[in-house]
Amino acid sequence: MQVQVGSTQAANLSTDILVFGVHGSGGRRSPAWKALNAAIGGGLNSLLKIQGWKGKAGEMTSFPAPRGSRARLLVLGSLGEKNDNTGAIRNLATKVGALVAKSGLERTAFYLDPAMNNTQLPDRTAAQAIGEGLVWGAYRFDRHQSKAEKCGVPAETYLYFEGRKQRPALADAIRNGAIIAKAQNIARDLVNEPGNIIDPETLTEFASKLAGDQGLGLEILDEDECKKRGMGAFLAVGQGAETKSALVHLSYIPRGKARRKVALVGKAVTFDAGGLCIKSAAGQATMKMDMGGSAAVIGAISAAAALEIDTEVHAIFAATENLLGAAAYRTGDIVTASNGKTIEVLNTDAEGRLTLADALHFACGLKPDAIVDLATLTGACMVALGPSVAGIMGSGRGLIRDLRAAGDRAGEVLWELPMPNEYRELIQSKVADVQNIGGRWGGAITAGMFLREFVDESIPWAHIDIAGPCYVEKSIGGRPLGATGFPVRGLVEWLAHS
Ligand code: BES
Ligand code: MN
Ligand code: ZN
Repeated sequence: MQVQVGSTQAANLSTDILVFGVHGSGGRRSPAWKALNAAIGGGLNSLLKIQGWKGKAGEMTSFPAPRGSRARLLVLGSLGEKNDNTGAIRNLATKVGALVAKSGLERTAFYLDPAMNNTQLPDRTAAQAIGEGLVWGAYRFDRHQSKAEKCGVPAETYLYFEGRKQRPALADAIRNGAIIAKAQNIARDLVNEPGNIIDPETLTEFASKLAGDQGLGLEILDEDECKKRGMGAFLAVGQGAETKSALVHLSYIPRGKARRKVALVGKAVTFDAGGLCIKSAAGQATMKMDMGGSAAVIGAISAAAALEIDTEVHAIFAATENLLGAAAYRTGDIVTASNGKTIEVLNTDAEGRLTLADALHFACGLKPDAIVDLATLTGACMVALGPSVAGIMGSGRGLIRDLRAAGDRAGEVLWELPMPNEYRELIQSKVADVQNIGGRWGGAITAGMFLREFVDESIPWAHIDIAGPCYVEKSIGGRPLGATGFPVRGLVEWLAHS
């Protein structure tokens, strides 16, 4: 996307969609409101009255550009009250992105109140939010529809800003936002593709191709190698499938000296039927999303490399699928993970934690400064926090604080769940070191406590349960049905800025 920041008046700018973002209802004192009023030749107030404009946060209305104008469409968007510029700007840009896709009008320009108060800088996150919103909002998953309409892509954008000094930094922030959203869209594609298209083998191929394209390090442990390393928990899950499981390790090493080294571990169950403890049809219907954690780590490392951030990043996922068959693992089986711990499988549908046990132990072997795992791990976390909020827990106090702060800046909310030590009793097996379920209550927490068994205590670790926000079953908060790319934005924010 071509990005420019400058102070050309709206009337003189050659673009397709002129976007005016006002605080609240705008009104005569608002610079963007004045600019729009001038662009339509006056009378904006009465026009808005006819349209029932209230100026509530997120409200957007459009006008055909007047004759003689160099634009095609004028858009007015409310940025709500002044305390959340970043989120409001991201929401507006997301809607404009959707408009770009639908209309095929690919050039946009933003005249935003916070950017027009002379040198009142919209901060880095606010400018980045323009790029993020545009590219995220223009996403479509329609490649399997033979009658899909042709869809516009944001090709060019402009931000009106008077202060000269800050322009290059703002332009960079917008470009970075577009890069991050592109990475989110990669993750969304992977999650939206069904289990017959993204399976453990094709997911591995995708990662290899990405590594080649972006110059990432690539290590693939096939089933034999995983067996040699004693990854009995991970391999048990894939026993019932025809496809081959594999543990994939991508790495991004910055050119200069790395500030720190982090490992991102993603759950990669490309389809979760539940195994012998089979899920209902309704329960299976969305289980192509069960590799959302791996999609997130792939998206995050792709963005990290594209942005050339100064943190060393390792993305690890143990790809498999949880099916049924004569070779499938059984309820009651006892398996041994690569750290030597034995696990009693009391429910084959609690498979994610088995795959993560070995992936987390592998990550510890890299001796990173922090480990973050992302997983569509429990329905219980969805029950607790709903479709917009992820659960976070773990051993790294500072790490959790930083991840939550980055998530807030990125508009991705992480809520911490406690890990009371006495809940360890809930996953104590009578015949093995640990069992893979903890009973009816506190399911998100006992899943997290299970994972803790496989992480070296000396490494700060956070577990993020994204079962809710990874994939929305019906549109909410401006996010259309399907994969959301959560939490790629927050992860990249954390990697680059904390
Ligand atoms: N992949 C599911 C969790 C899930 C459910 C993610 C719904 C997204 C939406 C996971 O493998 C699973 O089946 N968990 C079980 C655990 C239970 C058997 C202890 C669950 O949550 O029901
Ligand atoms: Mn399951
Ligand atoms: Zn699962």
